[in-house]
Amino acid sequence: DLSVADVAAKPAKTLPDAQTVTSVKHWTDRLFSFRVTRPASLRFRSGEFVMIGLPGENGKPILRAYSIASPNWDEELEFYSIKVPDGPLTSKLQNIQPGDEIILRPKPVGTLVLDALLPGKRMWFLATGTGIAPFASLMRDPETYERYEQVVMMHTCRTAEELTYGRELVENLKHDPLLSELYGEDFANRLLYYPTTTREEGPFMGRITDNLTSGKVFADLGLPAMDAANDRAMICGSLAFNTDVKTVLEGFGLHEGANSDPKEFVVEKAFVGDGI
Ligand code: FAD
Ligand code: A2P
Repeated sequence: DLSVADVAAKPAKTLPDAQTVTSVKHWTDRLFSFRVTRPASLRFRSGEFVMIGLPGENGKPILRAYSIASPNWDEELEFYSIKVPDGPLTSKLQNIQPGDEIILRPKPVGTLVLDALLPGKRMWFLATGTGIAPFASLMRDPETYERYEQVVMMHTCRTAEELTYGRELVENLKHDPLLSELYGEDFANRLLYYPTTTREEGPFMGRITDNLTSGKVFADLGLPAMDAANDRAMICGSLAFNTDVKTVLEGFGLHEGANSDPKEFVVEKAFVGDGI
């Protein structure tokens, strides 16, 4: 039998599927991002999600789905997270520090992958809130620009500060050495960014659904309205957002596809529930 002293002397047991946190950044009181080590064997397609978590009180892990926000060429993994005050996982996860361990089940899956769409001219990424996470991966993947001439990132949040993670990511991308080397000065014109707020005054406002149906986003960016021949889209937000955007895209003649049946758009929930 182990004495108390034996137990105390035993080194802390490493979690199964443990990865080490390398950096953490808090964007608002409700949003943060963090990076962790990447398991050597983990291969994924940009846009996919994995299960991550922390050990629970009873030793049983609390696991949740998280989109990988980093591109598949990155040596670390990045995640962009909500902080739900009473959330079983995020009430704890929001306190992680560099050097801490998290659990990461290395089985990536998901519908927001380039292979689930037919070739086309222009790719629309349509997201609210943390729904930008899979697109943070796809926007940083050169494969996206190999397949599509133009990428439009529409991101909508209630307030401007909630857009900051995405805004900084897009601004940094415009000066990204890898993408600039591949596409030169022209790259800035290939990634169009259309952030809007709905509950705070700003230069661009309104719901994604409204800006698509009114044609405002097309007028502002100098683009033709969406059509099935040229436009492809990926949707990631709340269930209500996804349902409403799907209806709008179907109105433009686009059809929902899947990994096994590529068409003009794909949809994935950014979270399950009514939102907070
Ligand atoms: P939970 O008990 O899981 O959630 C409590 C309530 O909080 C939910 O019912 C919902 O109303 C609300 N909520 C949960 N997540 C969000 C969110 N992201 N935005 C707004 N409201 C929310 N979350 C992320 O933060 N980043 C991601 O990249 C991400 N990717 C996901 C991918 C998929 C496919 C799915 C299904 C979910 C994803 N989520 C993501 C949500 C995530 O799985 C958890 O729900 C979230 O981390 C909160 O966990 P929790 O245990 O603290 O609270
Ligand atoms: P709004 O402020 O008009 O509700 P939330 O913070 O509630 O998760 O919402 C995130 C963003 O998504 C908000 O800007 C919100 O706009 C917008 N939104 C919520 N539901 C929908 C929907 N069904 N269609 C379009 N946009 C939506």
